Amino acid sequence: MKIAYYSVTRQVSRFVKKLNVSDEQVVEISDSLSLSEPFILIIPTYEKEILQEVWDFMADHASRCQGIIASGNRNFAELYIYSAKDLSAEFHVPILYDFEFNGTAEDVAAVNAILESN
Ligand SMILES: Cc1cc2nc3c(=O)[nH]c(=O)nc-3n(C[C@H](O)[C@H](O)[C@H](O)COP(=O)(O)O)c2cc1C
Repeated sequence: MKIAYYSVTRQVSRFVKKLNVSDEQVVEISDSLSLSEPFILIIPTYEKEILQEVWDFMADHASRCQGIIASGNRNFAELYIYSAKDLSAEFHVPILYDFEFNGTAEDVAAVNAILESN
């Protein structure tokens, strides 16, 4: 399974590097990215303008997205992982997992298990 991720302050990037995946499986979302195979999206939580590249990418690729894994910060309370919730509602893609910042060892193990079963 491919992973498409986005990272602003590199917490998600650090999380992705801890996963049990090959370099070829992982792509960072940019304006020019086009994916023809199924993928899991891993994203942080920010206002829509900051994640515009993710929204544009999903507008073109949501049909191939198997699910969203979200990084956030629980101090934001009811706004915790709201970007993933908004994308999930807009594109009808499930949220598979969430974690804070660059994830704990437990989060890494849980996401590795999700990747193995997809
Ligand atoms: C300006 C700013 C706003 C944020 N807003 C939220 C938020 O509303 N909800 C949330 O769960 N996390 C929020 N976060 C936390 C980040 O999404 C979280 O730290 C994430 O791990 C950052 O990933 P990145 O370093 O890959 O960009 C915010 C962080 C910053 C710096």
